Amino acid sequence: MKKESEKELRSKDWFDPSDAKSGFVHRSWLRNQGCPDDYFRGRPVIGICNTWSELTPCNGHLREFAEFVKKGVLEAGGVPFEFPVTSMGETLMRPTAMLFRNLASMDTEECIRANPLDGVVLLTGCDKTTPSTVMGACSVDLPTIVVPGGPMLNGKYKGERIGSGTFIWKLKDKIKNEGFTHEDQIEAEICSSRSAGHCMTMGTASTMACMVESLGLTLPGAAAIPAVDSRKKALAQLSGRRIVEMVKEDLKLSKILTREAFENAIKLNAAVGGSTNFIIHLQAIAGRIGVDLNLKEFDTLGSKIPLLVNLMPSGEFLMEDFFDAGGLPVVINEMKNHLHNDAITANGKPIGENNKKAECYNPEVIASIDKPFLEEAGIAVLYGNLCENGAVIKPSAASTELMTHRGKAVVFENIEEFNNTVDDPDLDVDENSILVLKGVGPVGYPGMAEVGNMELPEKLLKKGIKDMVRISDGRMSGTAFGTVILHVSPESSIGGLLGLVKSGDSIVLDVPNRKLHLEIDDVEIEKRKAAWTPPIPHSDRGYTSLYTKVVQQAHLGADFDFLVGKSGDKVKRDAH
Ligand code: FES
Repeated sequence: MKKESEKELRSKDWFDPSDAKSGFVHRSWLRNQGCPDDYFRGRPVIGICNTWSELTPCNGHLREFAEFVKKGVLEAGGVPFEFPVTSMGETLMRPTAMLFRNLASMDTEECIRANPLDGVVLLTGCDKTTPSTVMGACSVDLPTIVVPGGPMLNGKYKGERIGSGTFIWKLKDKIKNEGFTHEDQIEAEICSSRSAGHCMTMGTASTMACMVESLGLTLPGAAAIPAVDSRKKALAQLSGRRIVEMVKEDLKLSKILTREAFENAIKLNAAVGGSTNFIIHLQAIAGRIGVDLNLKEFDTLGSKIPLLVNLMPSGEFLMEDFFDAGGLPVVINEMKNHLHNDAITANGKPIGENNKKAECYNPEVIASIDKPFLEEAGIAVLYGNLCENGAVIKPSAASTELMTHRGKAVVFENIEEFNNTVDDPDLDVDENSILVLKGVGPVGYPGMAEVGNMELPEKLLKKGIKDMVRISDGRMSGTAFGTVILHVSPESSIGGLLGLVKSGDSIVLDVPNRKLHLEIDDVEIEKRKAAWTPPIPHSDRGYTSLYTKVVQQAHLGADFDFLVGKSGDKVKRDAH
């Protein structure tokens, strides 16, 4: 019997078939790229799945990284082939990059499945490019390693750190109250994007990089290395070498992505103060690989975890500082009593062993477990009549005094109404009001945009108000902050109670008891339900039409219902 380590290569089916015609076709056209004959004679074939795009500026450097991966693959005896997949840039795509996450995951899955690949390297960076490619790869389940593209260097503006994304949320206040001019704004734009790489706050991209390292899908220490640091290139090369070994060991994704790995990721996300978007992406990945993970577990596993990292948007520093302080390995080591230390990782070793020698070089950036920046971080999951399937809030980014609050709703039926009326001096709103935004969920927007951290009304900003309770069925940028309740499920556009809230209704938020409640009686609820009509679909054709028909709600990860699970790596029929 063959040992697992001697398992036949999947690519052999293409390059060494029993009939001459198929072998000829599969090999001959590849030879036009100069492939020597030994490329088709038992060497592991590695796909380098590249999310490079000039329209995804955070991933603009990944073509160069692919060359380093190729070097590593060749050094280890494998054969590399780079291929593009749908890339999603957070800053440019309309209506929101999230609309296309599942499309990109399908692209990744089918490109891997359809081609003669034995292992895969995922080159990722900007927010959605990590979960989409990991989701797609999970549905095929080959040996796979991730090379996160890395954050930009620290933004610096007039001597101060300026965090990508996080600064934008302060811009309106700065213009209105601090005399920030157009020239200042142009200068700040340049200062906040001074190198290749993704957002350098602990926004969603950095959160995703930490997520894949926590799950064991990267080599140790990968997440925080800045994009332009030479060590990132070395990491790409080493990952190229390692994937060839992973193929020989048949160390496929399902062997790394165990329930223990997911639990580690949830706890480590809390410790680094990661984005709320983590929830939705991790759930979608779990769904693909077949690990049962429900929304409540993000609270039960993560909400009591201490905050060990002092990074914007919750803290002061940026990813380059995090890297210099020792990066995620330090956090993993500090967290060892909370983690499954024997969870296996891409290098074939347990996560605990990989990180046990990590040392902290700056306690202002990474705290010890005995002296955390906050005793309890993580994400709180709320339930109540306003969110029967759950809603989330990130207490570490919120105001303590608003954690229990009763206020009158000020309702915006959609994002256009919000944009057109929020600064109206006659808007009936004060600092105790609760801003409610409808129609920004998966179906409603469509694509669940990052608009949940609504900007405060101008007249309240002028009074010096910095935070208010805000509720929506949308998401929030990982770079944002505030007492913001997100991911309300069921969403307003499919008949959730959020869609029935009216201005003036009383809402109670009680984060310590995990409650979010609309204070109207059942008779009134039934009356409003009877009068409710669903919104007109955004499109009756193409991808948007498909999306709104099959997307699941936020509490399930907003994946398509028919994409949950795996198709595996076998394809029965050939083209010839
Ligand atoms: Fe790409 Fe922030 S815009 S990571």
